[in-house]
Amino acid sequence: MTNKFWWHRPDLCYKKNKLHFSGRDVNKLASQISNPTFFYSGQRVISNLLRIKMALDDFLPNKTHQIYYAMKANRFSPILTFLKTNNLCGIDACSPNEVELALSCGFDPNEISFTACSLSKNDFIQLSNYDGLIMNCDSLHSIKSWGEVKPGSKIGIRINPEMGTGRTGNDKLQYAGHMVTKFGIYKEQFEAALNLVKKYNLTVNRIHFHTGCGYLDSELAHWKKILNESLWFINQCPSLEAINIGGGLGVPHTKFDKSLDLELWAKTLSNVYGKLGVQIEVEPGDYIVKDAGILLVEKTFLETKKNQTFVGVNAGFNLAPEPAYYSMPFEPVSLNNKNETQLVTVVGNINEALDVWYENIELPDLTDQNYIAIINSGAYSSSMSSVMV
Ligand SMILES: Cc1ncc(COP(=O)(O)O)c(C=O)c1O
Repeated sequence: MTNKFWWHRPDLCYKKNKLHFSGRDVNKLASQISNPTFFYSGQRVISNLLRIKMALDDFLPNKTHQIYYAMKANRFSPILTFLKTNNLCGIDACSPNEVELALSCGFDPNEISFTACSLSKNDFIQLSNYDGLIMNCDSLHSIKSWGEVKPGSKIGIRINPEMGTGRTGNDKLQYAGHMVTKFGIYKEQFEAALNLVKKYNLTVNRIHFHTGCGYLDSELAHWKKILNESLWFINQCPSLEAINIGGGLGVPHTKFDKSLDLELWAKTLSNVYGKLGVQIEVEPGDYIVKDAGILLVEKTFLETKKNQTFVGVNAGFNLAPEPAYYSMPFEPVSLNNKNETQLVTVVGNINEALDVWYENIELPDLTDQNYIAIINSGAYSSSMSSVMV
């Protein structure tokens, strides 16, 4: 029975046909806590982080690497504080408010790597007050504005290598590629960028890029080409101390997905950058927290209309926007496993056509069940939600 469910793992599985998550019986949790609500597993967060760290330790010469957790994936303070306590990573922040939150959870400015777009003058002034903050500039505007408030400092430059990779080629998840995006400095802008660096007496000690989200093994060959493309920029920066390759590491969302081969991933990094003698930095969000969270929701109705059976739940895309915005499959899971199954479409409670959690999924018969768990809800859900739950 166990291998029927692609998402089964020791801390997320049916035991005696009851869903368990992080050692807890989810039916019991549902009877104790109002919903919709998110549950997170701190242990899963740490084991995800450790997997990345061990792969980098194994394949990078002299273990010269640093992980920054992309807090925009999940800013729940207990998670941030827990990460600080475990001391395995720094933070990737993308707004002054995120920096403030990370500081309040115990991180020092020099443990925070900052990359953002479209910052205002006041944002730059605020950021310049955090001595030690690792600043990555993503546009000519950003280099100029930072140079004005912090001349003589070290900066990273976020580049746009005009190649991107995201989950199964999903264009919506790409930050660079054939579409021109707001992210990073393009090749033809690089000379102007270096002129601004000179003008403000800055030093480029880091090249940064983040080209897409959710990549798995099938994307790794293309991802390697992106790393190679970055060398054009890297070779023009004689004071380089680090290369930050952003985040984007994906987790399985369907039975067709396989977990990312971190060994191959880290080997690829080593092959391309190993001889440069600089620190390799990575800032994953999804990979750290996505499968460490579930969203518990209540069934509101079960009704067949024409040839489709709909299951309604008391939560919609304002709680977890990725299925609606990015067509990301967020699989609904029954709290009780049964032999009888039903083909259903799970929909939310917002009066909008795109408020669909999952179309046509075979679930254990839900007729007399009250709750559903939506797995992989640990990232870009509560942090992008418009309501507090
Ligand atoms: C600059 C930057 N770094 C890291 C991340 C984290 O990406 P992911 O959660 O896909 O690992 C993002 C996400 O968009 C990003 O824009």
